[in-house]
This record gives sequence, structure tokens and C-alpha cells, in this order.
Amino acid sequence: MGNCLNSSARVNNRENSFGGSSRLSAKPNHSSRLSSLTIPSYSNRSFTTSPWSIQTPNSEGELLPSPTLKAFTYNELKTATRNFKPNSLIGVGGFGYVYKGWIGEQSLSPSKPGSGVVVAVKQLKADGFQGHKEWLTEVHYLGRLHHMNLVKLIGYCLEGEKRLLVYEYMPRGSLENHLFRRGAEPIPWKTRMKVAISAARGLAFLHEAKVIYRDFKASNILLDAEFNAKLSDFGLAKAGPTGDRTHVTTQVMGTHGYAAPEYIATGRLTSKSDVYSFGVVLLELLSGRPTIDKTKVGVEQNLVDWAIPYLVDRRKVFRIMDTKLGGQYPHKGACAAANIALRCLNTEAKLRPEMSDVLSTLQQLEASTKTGSTPSASISPSSHTSENRRVQEISAFMRK
Ligand SMILES: Nc1ncnc2c1ncn2[C@@H]1O[C@H](COP(=O)(O)OP(=O)(O)OP(=O)(O)O)[C@@H](O)[C@H]1O
Ligand SMILES: [Mg+2]
Repeated sequence: MGNCLNSSARVNNRENSFGGSSRLSAKPNHSSRLSSLTIPSYSNRSFTTSPWSIQTPNSEGELLPSPTLKAFTYNELKTATRNFKPNSLIGVGGFGYVYKGWIGEQSLSPSKPGSGVVVAVKQLKADGFQGHKEWLTEVHYLGRLHHMNLVKLIGYCLEGEKRLLVYEYMPRGSLENHLFRRGAEPIPWKTRMKVAISAARGLAFLHEAKVIYRDFKASNILLDAEFNAKLSDFGLAKAGPTGDRTHVTTQVMGTHGYAAPEYIATGRLTSKSDVYSFGVVLLELLSGRPTIDKTKVGVEQNLVDWAIPYLVDRRKVFRIMDTKLGGQYPHKGACAAANIALRCLNTEAKLRPEMSDVLSTLQQLEASTKTGSTPSASISPSSHTSENRRVQEISAFMRK
């Protein structure tokens, strides 16, 4: 995927701890601002304000107060995390450090460890404009969008240069850790499907709300105690196209290995870019391999390039399957899931399915696995031929 970047795009050097996927960013395209806005008429009670403004604020002054968010003082969060003690650190990302803290369930004021509720406090590194913009975007979207498969933002802190976010604590951490961390307990097939379904539900919900997530990846999928997935990190989220527009033109942001090829090449963003990223994560779930793996050589460095030729052939699908599964998965189910991944990864964005379709297909697949019937999503001989054609297109594109 790295070779898909045009020359105006730069890759910032932060690499994740596993495969080597890194953040993408390009110079801002100032001509790309949306000039018209429509207010969607949602009846869904998950949108807390009505009418809901989809315009992302440019400064904290434009940030509309959200009735569901608490404004914390820095001192409160210092107390909640025991002075940001190193042993409270639960993760480090591109934009900051994540600490475990405790707050009162009702009062939301700092409490002693072991009393009240556990929270995750993300402290943004002081990296200027981009970090602040993403902080604002996150507060804007997560303050208004509520869904069982989106991580809950409890509050924020804005004091001088300090920017923090307070989330519900997700006890099982990120999917990335479970799939790729050395020594991690392998996740069984059923759990992988549960993660895929719940993450698909979160993404389908965002698309229904006309929001493009733009950063769908294993490290942003957090897991609760029962392995239900919740999407986190809304710093790159973007309002989808309105009116007759088919796409939003924007600076290329996201993560190498997950971003859709047409978005990297043109900066044209649609919800189908998220569908592509979903395909990559589904492939990671099936194969147990990270999207970019610099420890491998040749085509195996790039999961999509390597896996595509095997996805089309039900006799070969087992070759991409995670050996840590020990063969404990239904063969038909694996073929059907591979087929969904293949469709999501179509180079032709329009031919990718909608997330709502992906969700219902995955749900049918799960139900059919339980009853032992043939999943309707399995690869039929006729779709096989057209998938083969798509594979050739994809392979040709990748060779460019
Ligand atoms: N709400 C949370 N509950 C539990 N753990 C969390 C929570 N939020 C983040 N983490 C942990 O902290 C890690 C870092 O998260 P963060 O979102 O800052 O970075 P990232 O997703 O790894 O990378 P990037 O900056 O590219 O998004 C996560 O991978 C996860 O392990
Ligand atoms: Mg993240």
C-alpha cells in the first residue's frame, strides 16, 4: 500500500508496535471544504441533540456543549490517575498516552482505586495544531453519537495547552493486542466473528449517521469483558457528502495498510473507504497477520496483496487462516467470511458492499454456523467467476 501514495503525501514516522502500519497525512487541501450543509432528520435516539450539526468545529469556541459530557479539571484527572503514574499507563498511541483512572459512578469526581468506576484517560502529547484538531473532532462526534458499539466518552479536559479525554475503560484493550501481541492468548473463531459483527454494527451505525470514520483499524477496536467491539478514536471522523455530492475531498489521513487505495490516490473520501478498511481488519481476524508486516519478505509484507489470490478459491482459503486457530473453524464459514473480505477490498469502491449489508451477511453467517446450515454468504460458482475478475483487477492495481 505504501507505493500507492502520491508524491504530495507524507507519511509520519510513527510506526505501530506490531506490523509497521503508520499514519498517513498530506498537505491540507484548502479548496476542499464543504460549502453546503444539510441537517439530517434522525429519529434515532442515539443522536443526542436535535437538530444535530454535522459541521466539525474549528476551535474550542465553536464546540457546542454536549449535555452528556463532563468538563474535568486537570487536577481532577491527575488525582483520578494517581498523578499519571507510570504504572497506570495502559497504552501509547500516535497522539498521546492512555492511563487507567477511577471516578465516582454518579459524582464523576476522582475516587480511590477500587471504588467507583474505572476510566481510561487519554492525555494528548503537545503536538500543536493536528493534535488539537483531532481532540476537537473527537469531542464533537463522541459527545453526540451514542451506540453500544462506539466507546463512550465520559468527558474531557481543556486547560491552557492541556487536552485530555476520559473514556469508559475497556477491560480487554484493543483487538490489535489480542491478534498480534507476542504471547497473547489466541482468540477462537466464534469470538473473532463476534468482534467482526460488533465492529461492523458500529461502523454501519456511523454510516447511517452520515459520518465517515476514516481510521478503522485493529488498534481502534476496543473490547469489553465479553469481547464486544467498540470503535474508538474519532479524531479523523468526517461528515459524509451531502446533497448530490458523491464524495468529500479531503487531505489524506488515516493509517497505511488500512486506507483505501482510491482515497490515498485522490483524497476523495466516501463511506466505501471505511468498507475497505473493514475488509482489511476482517482479513487480519481470519489470518492473524497484521496488514503490514516488515518482518516478512516480498508480497507477504502486505496482507491484502498476499491474501487476495487465496480468497477466491474455497480450496485455498485455509492457506490464509490463522494457524493459531488450530483448524478449529467451520470451513464453509471461513470461505464465506473470506468472500465478504474480498468484496470489501474491491478496488472499485462502488462495487464494495454497504456496511449494513456486510453486517447482515456476517450475522447470517454466524446464525448458520450455529445451526450447521450452509451460510448464504458462501462463494457460489457464479460469484466465483466475478470474484476472480475482481482479483485480477486488484492484483493488477497492486502491481502498478
Ligand atoms: N478506553 C480504553 N480502555 C482501555 N484501553 C484503552 C482505551 N483507549 C485506549 N486504550 C489502550 O491504549 C492504546 C493506545 O490507544 P490510542 O488510541 O492512543 O492509540 P492507537 O489506537 O494504538 O494508535 P493511533 O494513535 O494510531 O490511533 C490502545 O491500543 C489500547 O490498548
Ligand atoms: Mg486508537
